[in-house]
Formats: sequence, C-alpha cells, structure tokens
Amino acid sequence: MKATAKAHTNIALIKYWGKRDEALILPTNSSLSLTLDGFCTTTTVDFRADLTKDRFMLDDQPVEGEAYRRVTKFLDLVRQLAGKENLFADIHSKNDVPTAAGFASSASGFAALAAAGTKAIGLDLGNQELSRLTRQGSGSACRSIFGGFAEWEMGSETDGSDSFAVPVAPAEHWDIRVAAVVLSSTMKKVSSRAGMKRTVETSPFYSGWIDTIPQDLNEIKQAIHAKDFDKTGSIAEANCLKMHATTLAANPPFTYWHDTTIRVMQTVQEMRENGIPAYFTIDAGPNVKVLYLPENEKNIETKLRSIPGVSDVILSKPGQGISYI
Ligand code: PMV
Repeated sequence: MKATAKAHTNIALIKYWGKRDEALILPTNSSLSLTLDGFCTTTTVDFRADLTKDRFMLDDQPVEGEAYRRVTKFLDLVRQLAGKENLFADIHSKNDVPTAAGFASSASGFAALAAAGTKAIGLDLGNQELSRLTRQGSGSACRSIFGGFAEWEMGSETDGSDSFAVPVAPAEHWDIRVAAVVLSSTMKKVSSRAGMKRTVETSPFYSGWIDTIPQDLNEIKQAIHAKDFDKTGSIAEANCLKMHATTLAANPPFTYWHDTTIRVMQTVQEMRENGIPAYFTIDAGPNVKVLYLPENEKNIETKLRSIPGVSDVILSKPGQGISYI
C-alpha cells in the first residue's frame, strides 16, 4: 500500500491571516494564491502491516518532535477516513523548497502527504475533498492541491465541510513570474500560527483587515481573469501591507520585516516609478517575493541582486497542482 505524490508550494496574493477554529484550521477570511513551479515536495507513503508506529524521513534524515507529531496527527485523519486506525506508515519526503527562501515548506509538504497518504491507504478522493483534508494539516497547503491561481473559500460551517480551495485559473492561463528575494540575515521569527493568533486576539486593526477582504478578492479575481498585471500586483501589494499592519498594532506588537525587507520594498516601488512594472508580497517572514512579467526578468533580477543584504534571488513560474508518480 504505497503511493508517491508531488506538490508545489504557493504564494498568497490575498493572505490567509487568522483562524476561527484552531483545531480544524478554519480561517477568518478567504485567501487566494499562485502555485509556483520552482518549489516542491515529493512524498512517498507506504502503509505496512508490520509497523507499530509511523516513521518519517525528510531528505533522508529521521524526523522527530513537533514536525513528526504534526505528520502522524495528519495521518490519523487519513486512517480514520479509511477505517484503518491501526495501520502505520513509512513516510519519505524530499523537499525541493530552499528553506532559506522563506517559503512555507508546509504548504507543499502537507499537500504531497495528503495526496500520497490517501492514495496509499486506498482512498480515492476528488481534489475538493483532498483540499478539505489537507487544510487540517496546514491551512495554506489546501491551496497547493491546485495549480495556477486558487482560492481558499473560508466557508461558514463549524465542522469545516465548506472550507477548501477551488481553482481560479490554471497555470497556463497567465505567465506571471515570482522572484523570491532571500535575505542574508535571519531573525528569531514568530511562527505564522502564533503571529495570526496574537493578531486576531489583540490587534485593533484586525477588523479593518477582515472588512476589506471580500473587495480585494473580488477585484483580484477580475484582474487575474483579464491578465491585468498592474491591477493584480497593486491589489496583492496593498493586501500584504494591510496584513503586516495588523501585526504592528498587536499586543505585544511585532513585525516580520528587517531593514533589508524594507530596502527591497523600496527598490520595487522605485522600479515602478522608472517604468518597470513589479509588485511585492511578504509572508510571515522577512523575505520578499516580487511579481513581474517575463519580459522584465533580466532587469528585475539584476536590480534585486544588487540590493545590499540580499543573498539570493530565485525565479519561479506558475506551477501545477498535485501529481502522482
Ligand atoms: O498555513 P500557514 O500556517 O503556513 O500560514 C500561512 C500564512 C501566510 O503565509 C502569511 C499567508 C498565506 O495565505 O499563505
């Protein structure tokens, strides 16, 4: 009972920022992302009758502690769904997500684990069901089931039955690019989990964040369908700044930004003033992702690499959803 699946990570253009249910991972707002081809996880799950517990290897190293616990807890859901509670697995994952790039490897990781795990145990789930299940491993991962642009509909049911991602436009729809700008310095980081919790509970800006999401989503979907780069980029950049503003007003306040983060943001805005269309977005970390069009790739990469404090720039195209190997 063995299966292998591959999934790509995604970058949110409209951010998921806040949970209404911590255990089921139900969000307080819908979000929208672009799946990226540059960063992926390949996972093999092998359910074997001779095992008495799960074994998890990541890049050929045994994993224990919190990461192991999250994986087995997720496989418990798979086992429950299949009615095979006492069947354990050998799990081998390979991450082609440069961890330094600040992409949550949890997005590609849980999407690949869900796809391989359900297939290995003999479940035949559709992508919607798979996305709903994946959500319970890591929220943002539910969007990585699909390629291209995907929306995670927050839903309203308390059991999470209507909270899953849906495709908005496939990878082939639009060759928009993303440069991951990796900073050389790292800082002790507030996890996305802890950061969103603190913000929901204490930030007076949080209600403003929630109030403006439906309009952002509506407008960005129109812009994506129309392949309107300036509109897509400006909505994404403003949405990112709004999310990060909520953290500045939390108690205690915090920010994910470094001095270099701000330098990259300013460079992107200067490029725009000089007629090169580019927009940024930032997740729960200091690295910046820059949206651009293929014709400006060389110019943009050179400019980003020349910023003091930038250690690498990794370029990516729209990527596909999960696949089985
Ligand atoms: O799913 P998590 O716990 O990795 O949280 C993701 C949060 C953000 O990356 C900041 C936004 C998003 O929608 O991906």
